[in-house]
Amino acid sequence: MKVSIIGAGNVGASCAEYIAIGKIANEVILLDIKKGLSEGKALDLTQTSSTLGFDTFIKGVTDDYQSTKDSDVVVITSGIPRKPGMSREELIGINADIVNSVTENILKYSPNTIIVVVSNPMDTMTYLVLKSNKLNENRVIGMGGALDSSRFKTYLSKAINKPQSDIHAMVIGGHGDTTMIPLMRLASYNGIPISNFLSSEKQEEIISSTMIGGATLTKLLGTSAWYAPGASVSYLVDSILNNKKKIIPCSVYLEGQYGLNDICIGVPCVIGKNGVEEIIDLELNSTEKDKLKESAKAITLMNESLKNFI
Ligand code: NAI
Ligand code: 2OP
Repeated sequence: MKVSIIGAGNVGASCAEYIAIGKIANEVILLDIKKGLSEGKALDLTQTSSTLGFDTFIKGVTDDYQSTKDSDVVVITSGIPRKPGMSREELIGINADIVNSVTENILKYSPNTIIVVVSNPMDTMTYLVLKSNKLNENRVIGMGGALDSSRFKTYLSKAINKPQSDIHAMVIGGHGDTTMIPLMRLASYNGIPISNFLSSEKQEEIISSTMIGGATLTKLLGTSAWYAPGASVSYLVDSILNNKKKIIPCSVYLEGQYGLNDICIGVPCVIGKNGVEEIIDLELNSTEKDKLKESAKAITLMNESLKNFI
């Protein structure tokens, strides 16, 4: 199984690391435009192989798409990240150019690959990849919900002082500070509604901490986060390559599901060897439905700035 990661920056490299350590693929290609960056990171990672006990072949290349030939999955992490005070939306112009040219090159060498989009604003970039290349909806998956859900679980686990592995929770909607929807009603502590353990004030606090989870880290780090994003991408890639059929909230193309059309937005999906294998039809209450509608409105508005690209 072969995975190519385009953009060997913080998220790309961390994703390569987790894929290797998790023995998720036997070959990882890291590609960047900065000369030497991918080669250096690939060599450094390869030198952890004997101590960490994996045999994944990792190769770094500078802008050489021939090396990505016949990838089963390609992850797009190329683009500029957020700086403190910057929204994901502000990245749109620069990243749309980058994502467009990268996708064109990927498809030249791996016409049947499944594409995982990470670059921000992720929902809009996912829509761009899908629309400008007229790809089947199952093959283009935006990663955001997996990360936002893991942040949600972290805050929930801290609040009830119980292990994260016993917390089940998900975030749907857009991958944006104001567009994501942490589903508190459905969150559970091993099947028990988590709301049983939290005051409504605490629930609200957790929801808002989750929504600004990325911004909080950007403020602390001076750039956006990479460990949890890289781990979330590798979790998604694992479900594809190893046909795990995990339910993961992903940004996928909707045509009528949840009453939405012509948009990529986060909803729970079954992810397997064919990419998006099923979109789960969650029964939302009226408040959640309204929030999803608002979230979709904001993403659709942002997608309008893609007019020159699609
Ligand atoms: P970074 O700046 O560390 O890495 C980006 C890399 O992309 C750089 O090494 C750069 O040289 C490379 N690059 C730029 N143009 C390229 C091109 N045309 N071809 C190949 N490589 C190119 O940034 P970081 O932190 O890794 O973030 C990457 C992207 O992922 C950003 O847009 C960020 O906002 C987004 N992100 C999305 C998340 C999500 O949940 N969807 C989570 C975290 C980051
Ligand atoms: C994050 O959520 C900025 O999308 C990036 O960390």
